[in-house]
Amino acid sequence: MKEVPKYYDNLDLTLEEILGLIQRGVKDRKSGFHNFVLATSSFENEPDARTVVLRGFDSKKMEISFHSDLRSQKINQLNKNKNVCLVFYDEKKKIQLRIRGKTNIKKSFQEAWNKLTNWSKRCYLTESPPGQESRKPSSGFPEEFAFDAPSSEQTKEGFKNFGQIRVSINQIEWLFLASQGHRRALFEVVKSDSKFLIEGKWLIP
Ligand SMILES: Cc1cc2nc3c(=O)[nH]c(=O)nc-3n(C[C@H](O)[C@H](O)[C@H](O)COP(=O)(O)O)c2cc1C
Repeated sequence: MKEVPKYYDNLDLTLEEILGLIQRGVKDRKSGFHNFVLATSSFENEPDARTVVLRGFDSKKMEISFHSDLRSQKINQLNKNKNVCLVFYDEKKKIQLRIRGKTNIKKSFQEAWNKLTNWSKRCYLTESPPGQESRKPSSGFPEEFAFDAPSSEQTKEGFKNFGQIRVSINQIEWLFLASQGHRRALFEVVKSDSKFLIEGKWLIP
């Protein structure tokens, strides 16, 4: 039988493992936490979800960030309802996270935009907004960028469509799958002023 990790029966070590995994997911494209599922509520209060890339984690503020086109449907939804659930799963670690929080949309945030390559900035150069019906198959951005990245000058047009979305974490629910018996815990982030406290408790998986 596979040996259990040190955090198996320890809430403090579990939290340490969780925060480390999220941090690694930002930089490590191979990490199971590099992408996550962002669940929102639609205008009709129906569930909606899609995959996004984890772009940042500030453990001092307990804030996760990702990028999106400000014209996209998810942004319209978030403008109406800031409550989100983020689902992460690391297949190798057998760890699932369900993170609940509230979003704050930073429009045209230069610092985050500057970190993107011109190749990545192409996605924000579509003339029509994402999700708009198209009469023909199309990437949405000009043909000339199909194989060549736009110049820095050309990417400037996309900046107005670029948004960094910050998720202020309220809760992290952790599930670890193990043959000896699964483990599940809930960590609540109790915020007051600029400080916060994280309170953990075990749940039955
Ligand atoms: C692996 C992967 C990563 C993605 N990353 C992002 C992302 O970081 N930001 C984003 O807006 N869309 C991303 N997408 C596209 C979204 O899943 C979604 O299709 C798109 O944003 C439109 O969603 P919406 O209509 O709900 O706004 C990604 C898709 C995949 C498959």
